[in-house]
Amino acid sequence: MKKKYEIKNKILNNLCEFLTLKFIFFKNEKKQVLADSYNFNKELKEHSFRVAEYSQILAELMCLDTKKCKEVRRGAYLHDLGKVLISKKLLEKRENLSEKDSQILKHHSKLGLKILEESDRNTIIENIIAYHHERWDGKGYPFKLKEREIPIEARIVSVADSYDILRNKRSNKKPLSHQEVVDTLKKFSGVYYDPDIIIMLEIFGEHFN
Ligand SMILES: [Fe+2]
Repeated sequence: MKKKYEIKNKILNNLCEFLTLKFIFFKNEKKQVLADSYNFNKELKEHSFRVAEYSQILAELMCLDTKKCKEVRRGAYLHDLGKVLISKKLLEKRENLSEKDSQILKHHSKLGLKILEESDRNTIIENIIAYHHERWDGKGYPFKLKEREIPIEARIVSVADSYDILRNKRSNKKPLSHQEVVDTLKKFSGVYYDPDIIIMLEIFGEHFN
């Protein structure tokens, strides 16, 4: 049984490795190719734009300085950058995700970081791309950081990302109202999300409407 599990893991690792190799090929293309790929996926682009808006508002509410708030906005727009290297078919898969699918999708944080390493170095943007799926309780991915080990900019984008996903549910599910989303996120305050950011969202939520 253990051997079967190890083989399965090896296959998954090889797949993630393949995506990294795809990136090495990709990085040799002109930067415009990267921009075009991000633009190509309309859903991803629109989601990223809204997450950027929400993240900047939350950064201001968390009293980050003006320059940092603008960087948070830029980083939030690029938070899912690594997904440009994952097939559109998989990104749009609505249900029955296999373990292999999940592993590939989870790899997007590291892929995004690799893309960025080859272009613009910027700590805030790197932190957002690398850590926006970490959880307050330490059970996120890919590095399993917890609480304030997770940079504030990534904690902000984590909330903004979930907020937007719930407000704009995929076609097979009903979108939630602002209040329904706040109530849902509150249930995971201190589990998935930084409690201070959830409090800000709850008190000053009108900025999101
Ligand atoms: Fe993501």
